[in-house]
Amino acid sequence: MSTSADAAQHGLQAIPPDTVSLADYERHAQARMDAGAWAYLQGGAGDEHTLDANTRAWQQLHLLPRVLRHTAGGHTRTQLFGRTLSHPLILAPVAYQKLAHPEGEMDTALAAAAQEAGFVLSTQASTRLEDIGDAISADDLRGPLWMQLYLQPDRAFTKALLHRAEAAGFDAIVLTVDAPTSGVRDRERRANFQLPVGISAVNLLGMAPAPARDVPANGSALFDDLLYHAPTWDDVAWLRAQTRRPILLKGVLHPDDARQALSLGVDGLIVSNHGGRTLDTVLPTARALPRIADAVGSDMPLLVDGGIRRGTDVLKALALGARAVLIGRPYVHALATAGALGVAHCIRLLRDELEAAMALTGCATLADIHRDLIEKS
Ligand code: FNR
Ligand code: LAC
Repeated sequence: MSTSADAAQHGLQAIPPDTVSLADYERHAQARMDAGAWAYLQGGAGDEHTLDANTRAWQQLHLLPRVLRHTAGGHTRTQLFGRTLSHPLILAPVAYQKLAHPEGEMDTALAAAAQEAGFVLSTQASTRLEDIGDAISADDLRGPLWMQLYLQPDRAFTKALLHRAEAAGFDAIVLTVDAPTSGVRDRERRANFQLPVGISAVNLLGMAPAPARDVPANGSALFDDLLYHAPTWDDVAWLRAQTRRPILLKGVLHPDDARQALSLGVDGLIVSNHGGRTLDTVLPTARALPRIADAVGSDMPLLVDGGIRRGTDVLKALALGARAVLIGRPYVHALATAGALGVAHCIRLLRDELEAAMALTGCATLADIHRDLIEKS
């Protein structure tokens, strides 16, 4: 990586020299970010039990390595929706990345492409999807470039957004299904976080406001208004009819929902609890994944996110049935610390850790990573 003098000369932020793990980026980011934005980024729902449990659940799985196997010439390549990926690391959709860095999602996308990692752009990105598409979609070596969709009350607008993403070169659509309403995010509320002027969901500009409904006296703003616009299984069927691109559902935890998604022609699932930000005390994803793998793992690719911070976590996710993994907060920490250089370095650190974990468990390729690498509980 560059020295700080090189970086300063090129207008890049330097990576602090003691940054050797994703946790180091978390510490550096906290020192650089505004307290309100930090509360938004880090916070989870309620008492943050699921937020904590996500990281802990990976740590609590113990590896049972194999020794003396041939691993020379190994690699981390995998296949997903007809593409060969150099490695199974994808950057999860995270809204409003200009809160972390003035270049926001653009620096993230450039870093992901340079490191051949996947990138999922949030519906609530603070950068135009066309700008991201122009910057990286034609790059032959880039990883997957996917658009995350929150169905908007205005379905015509939602359809137009989908077609804009297709035209801009996004390869697949990620429909987030675990957030029909925002979680009760106390940390964020205590900090009284508000989006600063100049940062907004620019891809939603021009959308018609949701038609107002008459909430009865003593009625519920949620049940009598907002949830009339929330997506249902019918909308998944609708979306299937709108696009030929692969569709993934993000936020599935129950095996029966996984089966239903499969029956509606969904192409992949992201086992996720939204990084512990929607409903507190839901199952950590390390525990949900094997159940979903048992239900549909041989029929559709499964991905997972939530609390993945180490190469060993990635290895465990693959052992439990994931084809690839997503990380959320850690790359935003790297973005806040050192912009595109930081995000690229963060991806490389995790990839190096995954390679070391493979070598130390006797796995030459991802296909060698099986559930029996994890001690049965
Ligand atoms: C998110 N996440 C998210 N998910 C999504 O589908 N659309 C979105 O716009 C956002 N926005 C968002 C903002 C912030 C600040 C965070 C931290 C997360 C959830 C995200 O995609 C992912 O599921 C989790 O972040 C994964 O957990 P870790 O890696 O952060 O522990
Ligand atoms: C969040 C929304 C944007 O988690 O998904 O903040």
